Amino acid sequence: MSMVPVTYGASSRPPRGDYSVARADYTCDQSWDDYSPQQHELYARLYARQLGLVQGRAGEEFLQALGQLAMHARIPRFEDVSERLTRATRWQIVAVPGLIPEDAFFRLLAQRRFPVTVWLRTPEEFDYIVEPDLFHDLFGHVPLLFNPVFADYMQAYGEGGLKAQRRNALELLARLYWYTVEFGLIDTPRGLRVYGAGILSSPGELARALADPQPLRIGFELRRVLRTRYEIDDFQKTYFVIDSFAQLFEQTAQDFAPIYEELLPLPAYPPGKVQPGDRMFAVSAR
Ligand code: PHE
Ligand code: FE
Repeated sequence: MSMVPVTYGASSRPPRGDYSVARADYTCDQSWDDYSPQQHELYARLYARQLGLVQGRAGEEFLQALGQLAMHARIPRFEDVSERLTRATRWQIVAVPGLIPEDAFFRLLAQRRFPVTVWLRTPEEFDYIVEPDLFHDLFGHVPLLFNPVFADYMQAYGEGGLKAQRRNALELLARLYWYTVEFGLIDTPRGLRVYGAGILSSPGELARALADPQPLRIGFELRRVLRTRYEIDDFQKTYFVIDSFAQLFEQTAQDFAPIYEELLPLPAYPPGKVQPGDRMFAVSAR
């Protein structure tokens, strides 16, 4: 069976992965032996740069897990990472050719299997890449899957995604993923820190997310997040700040069905605009 390729954002972008090797659930083999020495070297350079940048900016949970993972020298074998992850939180990572359809993605998350793209960006994309590649998926997402509360949140999100699909509320639920899993900030005793993978794997956004006075930093409020649109190809104009993973888990544990009904008829908020009731955070001194 050959699975349909998936593209990111505007559908004019050609798909980057080889979908002919994907199984029905969109997983594939990592084919680790096929990575070239240059690719291992590029990965190691990406890792080294980002490791320097996350110090003092990423949340403690992320930094701790990253340190234990020791996946700095070359592209890791997904099986090795999975083995540790299974021991920690019963999660696994699985290889995928690239972006996968939403229902396949949700199903994997609901099974505590996190899809990681097998291809790595080119050297020309060292600083910026629009669509997620192996480095983003692995460096950005995998460390927090070692945190028990965050791990449960991700599974709940997968289940919630399948439900949102049935209720035509995917656009709303996708915003929650965007503003937490990809671009979330967390308030800590030492100031704001980053836990969102889209920031953690991006050199430009990592420097900016905590320090630039321009973007809004708004206290997490479920309905506010579900109503806020986002842009996929520029630095974010708004970040939402959680107090803790426990708060995130608790605020999202409730049944979203009545919330979807309430919010679906309402207009969305544009990114980058303050709304009444927003709890604003100032840029944190480092
Ligand atoms: N509680 C949500 C629902 O009923 C599911 C969900 C959990 C969604 C966690 C996102 C994150 O749909
Ligand atoms: Fe991501």
